[in-house]
Amino acid sequence: MFKNNRKSLVLMLLALVIVLAACGQKPAAVAPQNGGGQESAAKETKLDQIKKAGKLVVGTSADYPPYEFHKEVNKKDEIVGFDIEIAKALAKDLGVPLEVKDMKFDGLLAALEAGNVDFVISGMTPTPERQKSVDFTKIYYTAVQKVVVRAEDKDKYKSIDDLKGKKVGAQKGATQETIVKEQMPNSDLKALSKISDLMLDLKNKKTDALVVELPVATAYLSKNPDLVLSDIKIENPDSGSAIAVKKGSPELVEAMNKSLEKLVNEKAVDKLVIEANELVE
Ligand code: ARG
Repeated sequence: MFKNNRKSLVLMLLALVIVLAACGQKPAAVAPQNGGGQESAAKETKLDQIKKAGKLVVGTSADYPPYEFHKEVNKKDEIVGFDIEIAKALAKDLGVPLEVKDMKFDGLLAALEAGNVDFVISGMTPTPERQKSVDFTKIYYTAVQKVVVRAEDKDKYKSIDDLKGKKVGAQKGATQETIVKEQMPNSDLKALSKISDLMLDLKNKKTDALVVELPVATAYLSKNPDLVLSDIKIENPDSGSAIAVKKGSPELVEAMNKSLEKLVNEKAVDKLVIEANELVE
């Protein structure tokens, strides 16, 4: 009996030692990993991630001179424009190089939400609809909407009414598409992904008019004397451009707003617009 009791006491003590040892080890082994992981996940902002990645990736639709467009520089195709210069300035302020990804305009916000790009700069207007899915910086540039027609039709199409039953082009996924739908309900909307294709369609008489922002119209018209600005009036023609960022990164929006404010105050944006227009051939 006595022997047995002693034996079980020893066993119990042994068990206790093992349990205690295990208890003592567990927190020591697990806690720092877990706790540390959670802590850095909570603290690591998008801004930290960008700095860690060592680059800032921007998504744009480079069919939009003077905002963003392709140009051969030293026999190499490059994406240039005042949006790109602004993006470079933001990257510089963050201390990382800029990487540009060119894609269709109507795919930009999906790419942003999927995390394929860090931000979008593409002459994009911060509409309430878009604000539901992404965040925007302040507006850094404002343009007006215009209707482009073939030179020979300028006197034929003077009002929205004159476009009744006619084909009107607009970029797919852009605010101009909504303008045609809402303000020209009696016209036939022809939405395409690229402004360059829309201009071609207009030249080739596949469409009769095209809604586009004035700086872009001016850039294309300078190379296409057969196209002109019409006298057709668009309601609420103002269209501001802002940068889009994935929701939930207020520190990134703040950093970008700071850089943008500096550029706007120094009138650097206006200068970049002039320089970008000079690059349009
Ligand atoms: N401002 C218009 C919008 O936000 C058109 C922008 C088109 N931009 C471009 N790079 N194609 O919908």
